[in-house]
Amino acid sequence: MKAVVLVGGEGTRLRPLTLSVPKQMLPVVEQPMIERVLGQLGRHGIDEVVLSLGYLPDAFMKAYPDGVAAGVRLSYAIEAKPLGTAGAIRFSALSAQIDGTFVVANGDVLTDMDLGALLEFHRARGAEGSISLHPVDDPSTFGVVPTDETGRVRAFVEKPAREEAPTHLVNAGTYVLEPSFLDRVPEGRQVSVERETFPAMVADGTLYALADSSYWLDAGTPETYLKAHWDLLEGRRPGPPAPGAKDAGGGVWLVGSPRVQGEVRGPALLGDGALVCPGALVEKAVVGRGCVIASGARVVGSVLLAGAMVGWGATVTGSILGPGSCVGARGDVRPLSVLGHRASVGAGAVVAGERVPG
Ligand code: GDD
Ligand code: MG
Repeated sequence: MKAVVLVGGEGTRLRPLTLSVPKQMLPVVEQPMIERVLGQLGRHGIDEVVLSLGYLPDAFMKAYPDGVAAGVRLSYAIEAKPLGTAGAIRFSALSAQIDGTFVVANGDVLTDMDLGALLEFHRARGAEGSISLHPVDDPSTFGVVPTDETGRVRAFVEKPAREEAPTHLVNAGTYVLEPSFLDRVPEGRQVSVERETFPAMVADGTLYALADSSYWLDAGTPETYLKAHWDLLEGRRPGPPAPGAKDAGGGVWLVGSPRVQGEVRGPALLGDGALVCPGALVEKAVVGRGCVIASGARVVGSVLLAGAMVGWGATVTGSILGPGSCVGARGDVRPLSVLGHRASVGAGAVVAGERVPG
């Protein structure tokens, strides 16, 4: 079966990381997010995926020049300008000549949901579209989807005020659709599936939804991007946290040959060639390949992308350091700071929950 995976958004909530790398090419524990998404689809019988591209499309095409990723065959549909989620689905499905039931997935959703069960549910109801739902505490940042007892969708309310959300079940960003869906999407302008096409299908009674309680996370904000790492390191998803990661005991994982001269406390993963100098402390962290943590530095609750450097005596807590970024000696990077590609924090400087462009 074929799937369209939406990866054309600008990833604004993860800026400045996403100014140089599209959100779905950011690593999640040393493996690009998109490969984790494709792996899940592949495990559920998807053998061909159309990547729906718009923003920084070259990053994907360069990473997978043979048109294969995570064991799935890829083709690319590149929008000249953003078409919105429904416009992108239509454009991608038509360019891949999809003419049967197909699957759509948001490219920033990490999940172990049961796609086979959703397909079966869809067929049993003769639905035009079926949405996977997931329960969340705060539905206000998602599409909220109340259903009747047969699973027919009563309303699709995108990002309502918290107190106005009719249910805690939200759109999990995986859909099964019939080709007739494509005729509903007008050409030549941006069309949102959440705000336009799904509400029209609700009015026609052809949209259904099925709740799934498996692991699910939208990794599109700094908080949830960090959480995606802890969920893998702390075993909330099965298997080793990264391909080829070796268990070094105490919740510490190693990929390739990092050098550990300081102290590393699990849960943690060190990438190939990373260096933790004597007197440095790493705890609850992912230290990407080629990173350097200098003597006396502390890195806690943070994710460091490839080649980031933390200087002598510096502290990094609860933050994301972009590729090749640098924190000067005695610098202090406090929770929910995000450093962009090659961003630099000066010696002794304090960054408190800020975004630092590269
Ligand atoms: N090709 C293309 N073109 N892709 C797009 C476009 C576009 O114009 N706009 C967004 N995307 C892609 C993004 O790259 C992302 O992978 C996916 O579509 C969803 O966009 P997000 O920006 O991540 O949306 P969201 O997280 O605020 O909300 C969506 O996902 C929630 C579940 O995670 C909605 O579908 C919600 O209803 C849903 O609950
Ligand atoms: Mg999202």
